[in-house]
Amino acid sequence: MKKISRRNTIKFGLLGGLAGLLGVGSSVARILTIPTPEEVEGPFYPLSDQADKDADLTKIIGRKGVAEGQHILVGGHVRDLQGQSIEDVTIEVWQANANGRYRHPHETNKAPLDPDFQGWAILRADKSGVFQFKTVLPGAYPATKDWTRPPHIHLKIHNPGHPTLITQMYFPDNPLNKTDLLFRNKTATEQSAMVARKVGQQGNLTIYEYNIVLSI
Ligand SMILES: [Fe+2]
Repeated sequence: MKKISRRNTIKFGLLGGLAGLLGVGSSVARILTIPTPEEVEGPFYPLSDQADKDADLTKIIGRKGVAEGQHILVGGHVRDLQGQSIEDVTIEVWQANANGRYRHPHETNKAPLDPDFQGWAILRADKSGVFQFKTVLPGAYPATKDWTRPPHIHLKIHNPGHPTLITQMYFPDNPLNKTDLLFRNKTATEQSAMVARKVGQQGNLTIYEYNIVLSI
């Protein structure tokens, strides 16, 4: 039997808590009716490998510290257009740190790096299509002189045998969403599908639900 490490025990504990908060398996979870809208990949898709790809971006293996900023848990379901769970989906996530800075060779923002922030992860949805990850609330950052990107998380969803979906997840009630040159080009329905929903608080951890619908 595979030995379960303390780190994995913590992860399973989070998943249990998340499933309860999301009402997984009940009518509480939000069911979307349109496919998750596509969005551009952007310039900061990870280029180099790293040792730590796990679902906790607030810690890096071998380091004692934790990432700066508001820690958050993001989780949800991957479903098809009929509402059926999809298993065996791999989800890559990447984002700026709490200061709005990517650790990436194309980055020009001079905001501080965070040596304790993992930056990106590779997630796998479980047999019920449920996924979750722990991270920090990303900072806003300047895309151009006149354009500030609101906090967002990039996702690339791989479903074997189907096209890859690239999208971005946004946060509710952020005033920068309205002026974002990408987000404001979406319809209201699309915007609603791209914004996570705040569903709970566990101590200092804010919990968001973000469901993904693939157009199959
Ligand atoms: Fe970005």
